[in-house]
Amino acid sequence: MIVITAPTGNIGRRLLSLLVAHGEVRVVVRDPARLPEAVRGRVEVIIGSHGDAATVERAFTGADAVFWLVPPDASATPDEAFSGFTRPAARAFAALGVGHVVGVSALGRGTPLADRAGLVTASLAMDDLIAGSGVAYRALACPSFYENLLEEAGSIREDGVFTDTVAADRPAPLVAVADIAAAAAGLLLDRSWTGVGSVPVLGPQDLSPDDLARIMTEELGRPVRYRRQSLDELRSTLLGHGLDEAFAEGVVDMKRAKDQGLDAGVDRAPQAAPATGFAQWCARTLKPAVLAAPEAVDAR
Ligand SMILES: NC(=O)c1ccc[n+]([C@@H]2O[C@H](COP(=O)([O-])OP(=O)(O)OC[C@H]3O[C@@H](n4cnc5c(N)ncnc54)[C@H](OP(=O)(O)O)[C@@H]3O)[C@@H](O)[C@H]2O)c1
Repeated sequence: MIVITAPTGNIGRRLLSLLVAHGEVRVVVRDPARLPEAVRGRVEVIIGSHGDAATVERAFTGADAVFWLVPPDASATPDEAFSGFTRPAARAFAALGVGHVVGVSALGRGTPLADRAGLVTASLAMDDLIAGSGVAYRALACPSFYENLLEEAGSIREDGVFTDTVAADRPAPLVAVADIAAAAAGLLLDRSWTGVGSVPVLGPQDLSPDDLARIMTEELGRPVRYRRQSLDELRSTLLGHGLDEAFAEGVVDMKRAKDQGLDAGVDRAPQAAPATGFAQWCARTLKPAVLAAPEAVDAR
């Protein structure tokens, strides 16, 4: 039995569609009506939040493997949002003898920037918490997702601009969520691995914001340029949106560390399937979102 948490999210719903044909799957979901029609009746459903002790106890009973994903929670401190949310599950992994866990996490482990990288530091601490439960654990070490750009579809459509805080010419890896789901599926189906480790999941090449602007311009057939925002401006925007102050600082610290090279220099290991290129992702996913009527754009 494989348990999928966050099965309605960007990564989780893709993973669910990959695993449903492969045998017993159980999902933990707050609202089962949000599960895709095609999988209803084909998976066991546990209703509740995977941050809740009683829910994970039910969900993990008899589980061989678990896909673990912490939902973004900007109303908590980074430590509460990652390790606090995961603590009941880590206890349940140990108590119920779950064999294998695959979690979504971030690049940066082992780098000098890892202990002052805000949300990334919190995500790596969550990995340590899970690893400490005694399960075999693989952290999917992810850079920023291509899909973050969907949040900018409106500003790309209206003004031809996307915004971030890193230097315009700093190359870094990015990744498509579909590739993260595929990596998770591979590890959950072939559980011959043991111990604790981190698996980088990267797009095929490092790209700077200027590279992204050039490729988006080509693929969308309209000019797109990069606007670099200061960390102070980012902090004010996040606080203006009502984020927890410590969480906002966690985002700022993460962005500073990324600008200092947190994600740089990771080796690309051979992968079972070719990674999704940015141009391909723009053509398939970003372009329809940018061309859609504003009210039709759904960032998920
Ligand atoms: N974005 C990046 O660049 C990046 C980079 C590295 C790592 N990450 C990590 O990737 C993860 C986000 O992945 P994603 O994009 O697939 O997430 P997502 O699309 O935002 O999905 C979040 C999922 O969590 C569920 N959820 C929300 N609040 C919940 C709660 N309180 N209890 C239980 N479930 C809850 C949602 O379900 P319902 O709302 O349907 O209940 C949904 O299934 C985060 O852990 C983040 O740290 C992100």
